[in-house]
Amino acid sequence: MADHWFIILISMLCVAAAELERFELPAKGDGSLSFLVIGDWGRRGAFNQSQVAFQMGKIGEKLDIDFVVSTGDNFYDNGLSGPQDPVFEQSFTNIYTANSLQKRWFSGKLPFLLHILNWLTGHLLGNHDYRGDAEAQLSHLLRKIDSRWLCLRSFIVDAEHAEIIFVDTTPFVKSYFLDPEDHTYDWRGIHPSKHYVTNLLKDVERALRESRAKWKIVVGHHAIRSIGHHGDTPELATHLFPILKANGVDFYMNGHDHCLEHISDTESPIQFLTSGAGSKAWRGDVKRVNRKGLKFFYDGQGFLSVKLTPPDAEIVFYDVYGKILHTWNATKQFI
Ligand SMILES: *[C@@H]1O[C@H](CO)[C@@H](O)[C@H](O)[C@H]1NC(C)=O
Ligand SMILES: *[C@@H]1O[C@H](CO)[C@@H](O)[C@H](O)[C@H]1NC(C)=O
Ligand SMILES: [Zn+2]
Repeated sequence: MADHWFIILISMLCVAAAELERFELPAKGDGSLSFLVIGDWGRRGAFNQSQVAFQMGKIGEKLDIDFVVSTGDNFYDNGLSGPQDPVFEQSFTNIYTANSLQKRWFSGKLPFLLHILNWLTGHLLGNHDYRGDAEAQLSHLLRKIDSRWLCLRSFIVDAEHAEIIFVDTTPFVKSYFLDPEDHTYDWRGIHPSKHYVTNLLKDVERALRESRAKWKIVVGHHAIRSIGHHGDTPELATHLFPILKANGVDFYMNGHDHCLEHISDTESPIQFLTSGAGSKAWRGDVKRVNRKGLKFFYDGQGFLSVKLTPPDAEIVFYDVYGKILHTWNATKQFI
């Protein structure tokens, strides 16, 4: 009898441990939710990082943003060397200084206040972040230095009308394991990666299937579709994309390619949005410009904003001067 209960307990623990951590965020009084999306940024202000940060502050104020999403590759070239690495302050705290980027939000499940700019990254560790001490970026110590920082490998932000699922995409990419070149990746907690990825896909699938949110957004570091330098990520196209398609995802957002980009999927309502232009841009590095569904591509620096209400979504891309480069509006009829 005792053994029997022991087994049930263990299996329950496993189920609980497998679920993605969830953060709850109430929508504003008017039911809207606004946020900025930035990627591939930490270069101590260089390569227009500071200019982009300044414009994020202005647009952030105009839209009264609720938080900021980072699509990863947070610190160049090699992530953080540890939680005390001064690069954290040099490339984050001292750069994103505007008032609108300092706001706080309450999380239903956490007993403490979180700032935004959450760099809800984690949020997405990019491949460059995995080259340093990947666990340093996940450390609670960073939140003592800058309370805005919230970084987990994969997690969910449940904001009433919208659900945003952050997926740790670096472990999907086989070449980082098979052919790391002269880079050293910090795979603690990832091995065996096949097991890690399989479990993560199951969690994402379940979260999407159970979601009642009107807008479903998935954020990863790597592109599913892109015409930039790295282009498509075949592992994500094969394993993650079918889950997004089957579960009514509206937007997939990523960084990794250092550009701004919008591609409409030709087989589903999914919009692919790349925001990887937070600092160094790959000017002129583009392939297959005649790609089907391509709505917009910009090879300079910038970021994008998202404003959601139950019927409407408005996506806007900006350059380093805050100039609007491209807008995409969508409306959904909800029964
Ligand atoms: C900064 O942005 C401007 C405007 O897009 C561009 O002309 C300039 O080359 C950029 N500087 C760097 C270092 O990327
Ligand atoms: C998108 O909607 C906003 C208001 O909701 C409007 O101001 C803007 O012009 C629209 N943009 C496009 C491209 O339709
Ligand atoms: Zn990257």
